[in-house]
Amino acid sequence: MSMDDDIFYSYPRREKRIKDKDLYETVEEVFDTRTVMTIYNLMRRKIIKRMAGVISSGKEARVYLAYGPKNIPLAVKIYLTSTAMFKKGILKYIVGDPRFEGFKPRNTRALIYAWTRKEFRNLKRLYEAGVKVPKPITFLNNVLVMEFMGENGKRYPLLAEVYNELDKESLAEILDKILVELSKIVCKAKLVHSDLSEFNVMVTPDLDIVIIDVGQAVLLDHPNSMEFLIRDIKNLIRFFRDEVGIDAPSPDKVLEEIKSCLTKTRED
Ligand SMILES: Nc1ncnc2c1ncn2[C@@H]1O[C@H](COP(=O)(O)OP(=O)(O)OP(=O)(O)O)[C@@H](O)[C@H]1O
Ligand SMILES: [Mg+2]
Repeated sequence: MSMDDDIFYSYPRREKRIKDKDLYETVEEVFDTRTVMTIYNLMRRKIIKRMAGVISSGKEARVYLAYGPKNIPLAVKIYLTSTAMFKKGILKYIVGDPRFEGFKPRNTRALIYAWTRKEFRNLKRLYEAGVKVPKPITFLNNVLVMEFMGENGKRYPLLAEVYNELDKESLAEILDKILVELSKIVCKAKLVHSDLSEFNVMVTPDLDIVIIDVGQAVLLDHPNSMEFLIRDIKNLIRFFRDEVGIDAPSPDKVLEEIKSCLTKTRED
């Protein structure tokens, strides 16, 4: 039985029609057949019940709101399989990662599938280390399914989107919270985020934070991990000092604290 037949037979007709409509209205124009089949597959496995609206559409990935069993909201991140730019940009985060040793992608699609798997693994590792990230649910090919971070179908805003509306005191608390997560990322999960910025931190209504977008995170063993860590710290401090205008600790001080937590965890 082909995949088509399988899908066709696993749903009663009416239900299938509804699912078709949900799926095509939301994803049809942007995705190739294989991606649509991947989403079908996740529906057949009852991970996704229906796709809802688009949350974000970037150059390399689209994020959708979807619903799982019991109408649990999900975030479904779908990587576009046709960007050559992407290919050049991401190789440096894969080469040097022992988890991808000997990996030679045959084509862009294979590279993007590996990237999706890497993002899932990073997310899982961070989640298990107690870092505030969306809970990973599953991945298949170029599709990553995770916990939806938001309320009533509306995602939480990014730090970049809300800092203007917050007072300095709250922003100082947010910086402290980010620094706590940064230590956990490095010292507990043994990863470097490598794209930590105001665009990859969400802020909840009670001013808690969520770290997102972890595909490019690398293991501390990666030959460039320290360079990426220093870049993350510099970006973060530059944002808080120059854009937000608060008295943030120097990048050197932050790095020193993280290094001390690293030596401590090594001694444990
Ligand atoms: N788990 C989630 N729950 C709710 N919204 C999310 C979730 N993950 C991502 N988003 C939203 O989707 C956007 C893009 O996600 P992400 O940062 O992971 O991808 P990206 O590769 O940086 O894409 P882009 O180039 O569009 O920024 C985020 O800025 C955020 O608004
Ligand atoms: Mg992002």
